[in-house]
Amino acid sequence: MSRLDELQQRIESRDAQVGVIGLGYVGLPLAVEFAGAGFPVVGFDLDRQKVEAVGRGESYIEDVSADAVAGAVEAGRLAATTDFDQLSRCDVINVCVPTPLTKSKDPDVSHMARALEEITKRARSGQLVVVGSTTYPGTTHELFVPMLESSGLRVGEDLAVAFSPERIDPANQNFQVREIPKVVGGETPRCTALACSVFEAIFDTVVPVSSTQSAEMVKLLENTFRAINIGLANEVALMCDRLGLDVWEVIDAAATKPYGFMKFQPGPGLGGHCIPVDPTYLAWKMKSLNFPARFIELATEINGQMPEHVVDKVAAILNEDRIAVNGAQVLILGVAYKADVGDIRESPALDIVRMLAQRGAEISYHDPHVPEVVVEGVSYKGTDLSDDVLDGADVVVILTDHEDVDYARVVTRAGRIFDTRNSTRRVAEGTEKVRKL
Ligand SMILES: NC(=O)c1ccc[n+]([C@@H]2O[C@H](COP(=O)([O-])OP(=O)(O)OC[C@H]3O[C@@H](n4cnc5c(N)ncnc54)[C@H](O)[C@@H]3O)[C@@H](O)[C@H]2O)c1
Repeated sequence: MSRLDELQQRIESRDAQVGVIGLGYVGLPLAVEFAGAGFPVVGFDLDRQKVEAVGRGESYIEDVSADAVAGAVEAGRLAATTDFDQLSRCDVINVCVPTPLTKSKDPDVSHMARALEEITKRARSGQLVVVGSTTYPGTTHELFVPMLESSGLRVGEDLAVAFSPERIDPANQNFQVREIPKVVGGETPRCTALACSVFEAIFDTVVPVSSTQSAEMVKLLENTFRAINIGLANEVALMCDRLGLDVWEVIDAAATKPYGFMKFQPGPGLGGHCIPVDPTYLAWKMKSLNFPARFIELATEINGQMPEHVVDKVAAILNEDRIAVNGAQVLILGVAYKADVGDIRESPALDIVRMLAQRGAEISYHDPHVPEVVVEGVSYKGTDLSDDVLDGADVVVILTDHEDVDYARVVTRAGRIFDTRNSTRRVAEGTEKVRKL
């Protein structure tokens, strides 16, 4: 029996030791799911605080319950470590490290390269490496395979390699992890089959595709689709602004069409680790093949203009009442990039705060999920939404549609409101004070 046959058996009996590198928004839920399915799991992270929190049975990710982490740790099925030597005892290794952009807006694969180096140093036959970080088509084949084979092992014979994109959607309560179909593409049919059998343990539906490149492209298509359609919604918002129309009314009415239309919402700009970043990975790859990714470029341009548009609208609202931005009290409602999460990565709120502060505005903010933000070296501490704070604001700018904010109270107390998310849609009275995107 080959070492990969043994691995197959260990997966089926749930004895396979699962490793997860990177215990963030993607890695921690995945580790907890594998532990819940009966696998022994060890998580790896460079961040000692996360490793220690998991060891104490605590969760630092809003969608992962502390009970689930504590239960898995107490049952002896989940541990976390900063010691990469423990990779040698892992049969299945999932790579869930960040894939951000560099300052010059190119893919930053340094986190993946570092994780790959740690894996390669301890690679042995009978292991399966699954890349889950979002990346450009070809990364697994061009970066992972040659490096892993530099150990003398052969992919498809001694060890297996696959790519399987993450589709987790933080704060989305409508889907459990297991209900979201999992796409899997291996370097060889054997690699695909092994990765499928691992994920069949924790996902109801596993969707095999023919290659790692195809699986990488699936993820980029999904997120590029979102970025482009949000770009269209944003451009329609800019058009409606010129036409004197309410973009929210137009989109909501269009969305009553039972087929052929999918609702996307405009907003103050793209945020998060995925939608503003992933299409750039694809555009970068295509540039190397002399192919301009025109839809991506256009959507990036339109979405990137939204923070400045918001700042201009705030200035115009204040100007109507002869208030200068310089010295105005601006209360930002929500700095997280999307509703009901505390994630501020790439949040357009950070750009808006920076631009308003540059124009001399006195900024304060309220966000039930974010206690502090640092913008251009300036630290802002979140404020309560007290009557004094609302009364004292020259303008309240709603940037995140958090559920746990009393928008009716905001509308009652505040003098001027600029709502970029249609958060005040359910407020019945006082909405003549509200200006919308
Ligand atoms: N957050 C999402 O909603 C989401 C959804 C789908 C896909 N993704 C993709 O998944 C990947 C991970 O994203 P995330 O949001 O979980 O990131 P994250 O920043 O929340 O977590 C990544 C973790 O990896 C750790 N890390 C970095 N380098 C490491 C290394 N060399 N070794 C060990 N640990 C390391 C970091 O300390 C961090 O804890 C990215 O490629 C992202 O694009 C994210």
